[in-house]
This record gives sequence, structure tokens and C-alpha cells, in this order.
Amino acid sequence: MAEPMAVVGFDANAPLTPQQQPPQQLLLQQPPQALLERLKDYGQEDVFALWDELSHEERDLLVKDIESLDLSRVDRIIRCSLRSQGLPAAAIEPVPESCVSTLEERTLDERERWWKTGLKAISDGKLAVLLLSGGQGTRLGSSDPKGCFNIGLPSGKSLFQLQAERILRVQRLAAQAATDNSISSAPIHWYVMTSPFTDEATRNFFESQKYFGLEANQVTFFQQGTIPCISKDGRFVMETPYRVSKAPDGNGGVYAALRSSHLLEDMSSRGIKYIDCYGVDNALVRVADPTFLGYFIDKGVSAAAKVVRKAYPQEKVGVFVRRGKGGPLTVVEYSELDPSLASAINQVTGRLRFCWSNVCLHMFTLDFLNQVANGLEKDSIYHLAEKKIPSIHGQTMGLKMEQFIFDAFPYAPSTALFEILREEEFAPVKNANGSNFDTPDSARLLVLRLHARWVVAAGGFLTHSVPLYATGVEVSPLCSYAGENLEAICRGRTFHAPCEISF
Ligand code: UTP
Repeated sequence: MAEPMAVVGFDANAPLTPQQQPPQQLLLQQPPQALLERLKDYGQEDVFALWDELSHEERDLLVKDIESLDLSRVDRIIRCSLRSQGLPAAAIEPVPESCVSTLEERTLDERERWWKTGLKAISDGKLAVLLLSGGQGTRLGSSDPKGCFNIGLPSGKSLFQLQAERILRVQRLAAQAATDNSISSAPIHWYVMTSPFTDEATRNFFESQKYFGLEANQVTFFQQGTIPCISKDGRFVMETPYRVSKAPDGNGGVYAALRSSHLLEDMSSRGIKYIDCYGVDNALVRVADPTFLGYFIDKGVSAAAKVVRKAYPQEKVGVFVRRGKGGPLTVVEYSELDPSLASAINQVTGRLRFCWSNVCLHMFTLDFLNQVANGLEKDSIYHLAEKKIPSIHGQTMGLKMEQFIFDAFPYAPSTALFEILREEEFAPVKNANGSNFDTPDSARLLVLRLHARWVVAAGGFLTHSVPLYATGVEVSPLCSYAGENLEAICRGRTFHAPCEISF
């Protein structure tokens, strides 16, 4: 039972008028007993270690912070996740070729058919795009959300703007295809997941940029949850003496967040059937790709992912595998893949056996999202990532607990993988400039080089005062989504790189 609390500066026995009621924080001389007992049950009572040094206001903040945590759930997740570490991994098998649409096996006819099918579904309003933008982007080191980042393209556009303009372009393509068939076309709804670390800045950025030309009402923001950061022995890390250090619960937190914000119902009420889901930090992301959607509809599966071939055995990317013979599709992180398996060669093809790299480009049916939102929530094993965590002792190494978007794949009744070319669709922005890979500089070059190839293929010419391998041109997504539509703009014209080509 809770001990009666002492009241500072008041006669605790005298009845008080509402005006005389002391502020809540003045009541706290001791940690609330019931809360302390609960914390002891979970071995987390150290959160009150500095209680005596806190002001009344800070004590109040600390109690509210702890009360906001679902302690039994967090405890279950900590115990299950720590226990699962170091357990022998279940046997894995390569993904059979039959589950993958490879570049070699695709015909032009098929691609055109998928493109048209995708555009039709988009003009019918059946596709939504879902952006995962709740990450803290610690490696990039920018104080703004990653999507606000300008990677140094000639246009100076942010990642958010590139994505918004690609949505606008696909919308236009879908509307054109629909007009050809004399039907009207719906806008593409954009669901943007943020976290407490990115929410306000993201909303402000969209607003200040006037939604990059989109209608404000076709964008919906929602927030994912957070979870305490822990030490290796499972104790909460304190960010300040009165606040537990927390981090977003991983991009797989999207399933629970969609459910708790009632957005699955919102999607359903809009007639949405398919959801194109992607990470914010890919400068070449083909948002709302009609070809991928057409393929997905054609295959009739519940979940699909775009994949690129692994470049070399030690490349730091997760790969899609089957868990056990004929088991479900899942992703094994590079750190969890035995080096001998990472370099194993398929004797028939001469290629890596585990070669399908995950690049966080997924398509789901709404039915599947509904199903998985319930299933994953019960899953108490989170991935543990050792990262720098803000603490009362400065930045300390600790564990962040995360679910990943691909954790849903084993729940999918049917899945498919779609191979893409990394130089066409994958320009990751993970690390700050000066790092060896996946920087804003490397992403910018990938965009400039791809677009330079588009321009040359459309009959344009390039001049350049730095070597061409170090520069290129930028094509505005408003002109072209994937290299189409450029002949009229480029044929016979000369462009001096670097520059932006727009209307
Ligand atoms: P990353 O795993 O690369 O993490 O996210 P990050 O947070 O952006 O960067 P670091 O690790 O702190 O340097 C891949 C994608 O998943 C999103 C990110 O915003 C990015 O689009 N993400 C990540 C979330 O939406 N929520 C999370 O909790 C974590």
C-alpha cells in the first residue's frame, strides 16, 4: 500500500480550499511507494537513485515519466530480447529463385503490363505511400529530421521534396493514363510516420515548404512509439536525473503506430488496398512505383520487397532468407550472418547463395497490415542495437531496442521479391560526409550519374569542367519519374554539368 505523502508548507490535516491546494510537485517528499515497489519488481528502482538531489518539480517530472511507461510490457521485452541474444540462430536457406522476379527473366512486355496495371490502380485511388521517418539519424549527425536534408544537388532540394515531387509526377502519369481511358484520377495519399524526435520539425518543414506542391489534406502525419534505452544488464539508462533515456521503437513500430492512430481504418475508408512503404534516406527512391505495384498485383501476394544483388560477401546489408526448409521469408542482418554463409557460392549460378539485399522498399496489402499489426505487437523479442545514448554521464554505450519493418514478413501468407538495379533506385544517406560510404556526397553522385544517363539516352549532350564520373545532371522529378518524357526536353540540347533540368 502507498504511504501517505507529506505535504510541504501546509497543515496536512486542515481542509484546503481549491485555491489553497498546493501544486502537485510539492507533495512529493518520497518516491511514491507503490511505484517504487513496482520498479523493484522489475529491478529498475535505480531510476530513483538521485531523488534526494531533485527539485520538487523534477521529482514530479520523474514520476510522470515512469508512470507513462507500460512497465510490465517493457520488462517482458527487455527480458525476452536479452535472453534471445546469443541463442543459436535457426537454420536458414537461400530464397528460391522462383520467389524472385530477376532482371534477367523480365520481358519488356511484362514491364509495360505492370506499369499500366500499377497506374490504373493508382488512378483508382488504391495506393497509399507510407514513409518511415521516425529515425534519429544519429550517424548523419544533422539536428533536423533526415528528410529535411539537402544532399547538395544543383536544385538544393531536400529528400522530402524529391519524394513529394515523385508522388506528384506519378499522380500526373496516372491521371494522364486515366484521361486516355476517360476516367478521373485520385490523389495519392502520403502517410508520414514521425517520432517524438522528428515530429514537430517534420510538420513545420512541410508547412513552410507548402507541402512541396501537394495538397495539405493528402498528407497525414502520425507518431511511432518510444521505448527506454537500457544498459547491457537491462537497466534503464537515465538521460537526466529525472528522465529515462528513450529511443523510437524501430521502423517496425509502424505497425503498432498505424493501429493506435486508427490509420488502418482511415486507409480502408479511402478505398486504399495497397501500401508502398519506404525509408526516408534513399535519394533515388521510386515512391509509388507503378511497375512494382503492377508486379505486386499480378503476383497476388500479401507482402513484397524490392531487393538488390549483394555487391560482395562482406557488404553491410541484411539479406532475405528462408527460415528453415520451406520456412517463412525473413531478413538476416549482416552482423548475424555467419561469414562462411555470407561468402557461400551457388554452384549452378556461380553467384552468392545469400544474395538478395534488403533496401527497405516494401509493398503490402491493407489486409496484411491489419493482420500483422496485431501479431507483431505480441512479439516480445526486439532487435538490440548497441549505440551511443545520451545519459547523465554524457554519451554512453547502451542498447536501443527496435522492431524492424521486415519483422512482418514471416507473418505474410505469401511473399515475393522484386530485383531492382541499385544504380537506378538505391542511393542511401546514412553517414556524414567524410565517411567511406552512404553519405550525402555519394548519394548526390548516384543521382547525378543516373540522370545524366537518362539525358544522354534521350538525345541530350553534356559538357563538364570536372571529370564526368564526379558530376552529372539532375532531372526534376516533375519532368520525369524514371527517365520517361525527356526526349522533348533534351534531344539535341547541350547541358553543362552540374545543373538541374526542369520545365
Ligand atoms: P536507420 O536504421 O538507418 O536509422 O533507419 P536512422 O535512425 O535513420 O539512423 P541512425 O541509425 O540513428 O544513424 C532506416 C529508416 O527507418 C526509419 C528511418 O527514419 C529511416 O527511414 N526509422 C528508423 C524509423 O522510422 N523509426 C525508427 O525507430 C528507426
